Amino acid sequence: MLTNQHIDIVKSTIPLLESAGPALTQHFYQRMFSHNPELKDIFNMTHQKTGRQSVALFEAIAAYAKNIENLAALSSAVERIAHKHTSFNIKAEHYQIVGLHLIETLRELAPDAFTTEVEEAWTAAYLFLAQIFIDRESALYLESEAANGGWAGARSFIVSDKVKESEVVTSFVLTPEDNQAVIAYKAGQYIGIEVTPSQSEHIEIRQYSLSQASNNNNYRISVKKEGEGSQLGLVSNYLHDEVNVGDKVNLMPPAGDFFYVEKQRPVVLISAGVGCTPMQAILQQLAGTEKTEHVTYLHACENQTQHAFLDETDSAIVGRGWASEVWYNTATFELNKANTHQGLMDLKNVANPLPLEEGDFYLCGPVVFMESIVKQLEALGVSREHIHYEVFGPHAYL
Ligand code: HEM
Repeated sequence: MLTNQHIDIVKSTIPLLESAGPALTQHFYQRMFSHNPELKDIFNMTHQKTGRQSVALFEAIAAYAKNIENLAALSSAVERIAHKHTSFNIKAEHYQIVGLHLIETLRELAPDAFTTEVEEAWTAAYLFLAQIFIDRESALYLESEAANGGWAGARSFIVSDKVKESEVVTSFVLTPEDNQAVIAYKAGQYIGIEVTPSQSEHIEIRQYSLSQASNNNNYRISVKKEGEGSQLGLVSNYLHDEVNVGDKVNLMPPAGDFFYVEKQRPVVLISAGVGCTPMQAILQQLAGTEKTEHVTYLHACENQTQHAFLDETDSAIVGRGWASEVWYNTATFELNKANTHQGLMDLKNVANPLPLEEGDFYLCGPVVFMESIVKQLEALGVSREHIHYEVFGPHAYL
């Protein structure tokens, strides 16, 4: 049980944790992967090599320690992380492993400060936090299993279609091997895909946004091919180059705390690059439900050859009186269209007036892009509560 004394002790050790910085995190992961190498099939080892994700767990634990008396402040983070964890099929027993290596890391790196009282306090605090995640994740697993077309863990799917959407983005339609129904999802959510690329020693799990409106039969993901041979492109290059129609992949049930919520208000979808994928799902859903309020879709990409879903977007927009505008960073042609701009997205240049006060804004794209858009929206008077965003990869707060 977590007592007030535990809380005081945990809080008093935060400066120690913070001063140890990356060394603590590195020690923790090295320890965990050498004792429990099976976890290399769960964690993105590229993130470990590039250091992208390695801070997340410790940052989350430190944030938790700071807010231990006000856990409500962390509830949206818990929701986001719990969804992410379920797409990796993280189970209660994994928390014991992480907890053990966390405590042993503290003991090994700060032997003097790590007294019996400190150990007891950190163990109680970790178990308390772990239980919050375990409970939320169990509820999500139960929901997925009980849903129409539902399942638990990994389910086998066949690539039933592979379509090049642009120079860099290819879609994969995934139909369950058993040909039974699939779970409906909320437009904007993602799916965890499990593959074993020829160039990897491990099973690799990645998340991709679902890029079509939910249907009962299949899922569609649309994947950007990352720089060839780059560590970050291990799975995307494998999917592009080696996975073809008829091949099998495993999928975890859909998850994610970023999704469209109908509020009978105008909607503005804003994306850059492959950030267009959740927007396609939202746009298709809006078109399918005959939304009466105005919809605007603003998209930025490198040039027209990298512009995915151009026709699909047009067919959703045209005929409904909705608006779409495009920014090509290095425009080469087709700039004569009224809704096509050159350079970076600049909301002051939008041809159609944006619903600044009454609209809901959904963003997805690189973090620097979204930071710039949030700044521009705020300068135009859009309130923060009407801005929703999805970050691909390790989370960032805008
Ligand atoms: C109380 C304990 C835990 C906390 C506070 C925590 C926190 C986090 C955070 C903050 C993220 C990043 C989420 C994002 O970027 O949106 C994350 C991701 C992740 N977590 Fe946890 N986590 C915990 C337990 C676990 C356990 C037990 C496992 C499995 C052994 C696990 C596996 C993962 C994986 C695989 C990712 C994705 C990151 C990657 O692949 O590099 N976590 N977690």
